Amino acid sequence: NVTVIRAGKLVDVVAGTVLKDQTIVITGERITAVGPSASTPAPAGARVIDLSAQTVLPGLIDMHTHLTGDPYLAGYNALGVSDTRAALYGVRAARKTLEAGFTTVRNVGASGFGDVALRDAINDGDFIGPRMRTAGYAIGIKGGHCDENMLPPDMNFTSRGVADGPWEARAKVREMAKYGADVIKICASGGVLSKGDEAGAQQYTLEEMQAIVSEAHKLGRKVAAHAHGTSAIHDAIIAGVDSIEHGSLIDADGIKLARQHGTYLVMDIYNDDFILQEGAKAGMLPESIEKEKKVGQLQRDNFRKAFQGGVKMAFGTDSGVYPHGDNAKQFYYMVKYGMTSMQAIQAATINAADLLGWKDSVGSLSVGKYADIIAVQGNPADDASELTKVDFVMKGGAVIRQ
Ligand code: ARG
Repeated sequence: NVTVIRAGKLVDVVAGTVLKDQTIVITGERITAVGPSASTPAPAGARVIDLSAQTVLPGLIDMHTHLTGDPYLAGYNALGVSDTRAALYGVRAARKTLEAGFTTVRNVGASGFGDVALRDAINDGDFIGPRMRTAGYAIGIKGGHCDENMLPPDMNFTSRGVADGPWEARAKVREMAKYGADVIKICASGGVLSKGDEAGAQQYTLEEMQAIVSEAHKLGRKVAAHAHGTSAIHDAIIAGVDSIEHGSLIDADGIKLARQHGTYLVMDIYNDDFILQEGAKAGMLPESIEKEKKVGQLQRDNFRKAFQGGVKMAFGTDSGVYPHGDNAKQFYYMVKYGMTSMQAIQAATINAADLLGWKDSVGSLSVGKYADIIAVQGNPADDASELTKVDFVMKGGAVIRQ
């Protein structure tokens, strides 16, 4: 079961260079050799895939997805969707995401453990989708961004992710871990797409976040903190979270803290386009559109400041807010707001693999790693937007798209 890929160009994301005429040897699920074609012979009987006219790179990683979320069922439209229906929707979203070249995702919040079911079904081979790290329910305060605030008090509904106070929050981390969370997602501040809160206002206290982080790390799980607000970002970093999601209103102090603590920023700077263009039609609340108008541009400007300030960045888009499969549209903005195309690719490969804790298995085309490989016609190291046109996808040695 040996496959050989002849690559016209190959993006070495570790060195940050593009190599010519490379050969990758794949045995089973993994890469067993990679080097110049002249000195890397194809083993006898190997299947050869000719990508000599293309640029080959490691499968992309999106650190912020919601595969069970349908972007066209937002706001009150989402209330009629059962957790089971959402999980089944996720089957299609998973395929679209993988076919777009995203061979790994970190899914940061799903109701009914639909993300865990998707992950396990993909791993069992029931259908195709990316490798998944899952969070189960996003954990947050009552009435906060991670709760469900659209129903009247008569219904007395609270999301299963709600936990108030340090010990309740610790217990919630244990519950998520028990039912399949690989990573813990929390809501440190308010959000755009939630009712009745301000994106910039802090929600979890420092004390609650310290409890969550110590419990999660004790159980071997990293913590991803949704935080648009300045003080929430500050306290989440002090508490020791592994990544700040959104990061919209990060200030100079937050940038310095993130650099000092080695905290990753995962900033979803594409979806503003979709929210402003399609959001109302999709059912997003008028207040959400107004909130987006306040944070969208600031987030893009702060992306540039944080990156230039030396903060580690990993690629994450909040898919599910916008249509699955459009993930790579974000590369355009990452370059527009300060990265080189190579740096944007690194954010979606080696950096993301590091934040996942999967540095040994994904994120670069190196011996021993999974053969998660994509190819495009152009050269994405010159223009990362080429990654919206992925035309070859392999996951774990299996060709998904050619
Ligand atoms: N899920 C996020 C929230 O509701 C989406 C934010 C989208 N806006 C943005 N500028 N990134 O807060």
